[in-house]
Amino acid sequence: MHPVTPAFPSARFRRLRASAALRDLTQENRLSVKDFIWPVFVRDGENVEQPIASMPGVNRLSVDRVVKAAAEAAGLGIPAICLFPYTDPALKTADCAEAWNPDNLANRAIRAIKAEVPEIAVMTDIALDPYNINGHDGYVVDGQIVNDETVAALVKMALAQAESGADILGPSDMMDGRIGAIRVALEAAGHRNVTILSYAAKYASAFYGPFRDAVGASGALKGDKKTYQMDPGNSDEALRLVARDLAEGADMVMVKPGMPYLDICRRVKDAYGVPTFAYQVSGEYAMLKGAALNGWIDGEKSMLESLLAFKRAGCDGILTYFAPEAARILAEAQTAGG
Ligand code: PBG
Repeated sequence: MHPVTPAFPSARFRRLRASAALRDLTQENRLSVKDFIWPVFVRDGENVEQPIASMPGVNRLSVDRVVKAAAEAAGLGIPAICLFPYTDPALKTADCAEAWNPDNLANRAIRAIKAEVPEIAVMTDIALDPYNINGHDGYVVDGQIVNDETVAALVKMALAQAESGADILGPSDMMDGRIGAIRVALEAAGHRNVTILSYAAKYASAFYGPFRDAVGASGALKGDKKTYQMDPGNSDEALRLVARDLAEGADMVMVKPGMPYLDICRRVKDAYGVPTFAYQVSGEYAMLKGAALNGWIDGEKSMLESLLAFKRAGCDGILTYFAPEAARILAEAQTAGG
């Protein structure tokens, strides 16, 4: 027993749970719209919203629609949006040159959002998989994913995104040394305030399946990503990776996936006290949405509970496909006085 907790009946834990007012007063962690980064999928075309079968309620949006979505998100108070391009298969090559094309889909979307909705922070993804003919995050040479050559390409990609106006760069590739290389290049190019949110502890996870459908990488991917993404059995390694990325110049760090890895979030926050984020990934979204759509769980309540759990685990924020839906519910709760 905790030393300051007297014996029953002096202590009755139910006293503080007896009314909504007392529960509100004593709640330790709270969810806010300010905790959200909203990942969105961008595609080419004009006025297009294309549903993604494995992510009910999520669409691929053409650039004009992404700008509208960003304006809506800003209106709801969501601080950041994260862009993932669905690249035309014809533009996928072995050298991945489309990744640093200043006029690629992601860079056009960054510029369009920053022109129309400057107040929302725009986050990017840095990895070669949307542009790679074989679906990997790095170059494949003789069946190996090569590290240093990939890092050189990622630096070009990062600079093109920063040049387009990105506020937060998200290296998600898990190559070694990429944070340092990107940071040095950003400083040299005068991009002093461009931040890096490193996907520091990113696991080789089956929960990314629907995302790979969404960006059109599922068919392309040969093999798995286990030589660069982490083994789900590892925990100490996550701390070493976070320490390494911070030392190389990451401003913020991420754990990914989210819900199955809340223990890692807690360890990272406790060990370093740095801005710590989790990515509630596509498979987590699909599980919750799928069960809700079948009437097996309460969609709204399970969504909010899952998001609050990230706060309890020590996260400062969450990348979540639920961001606008959750933001609307939180706003309604506010006006209802609850
Ligand atoms: C690409 C990337 C992935 C995700 C974010 N960036 C997929 C992967 O590593 O295969 C997954 C996001 C999600 O599942 O929602 N490097």
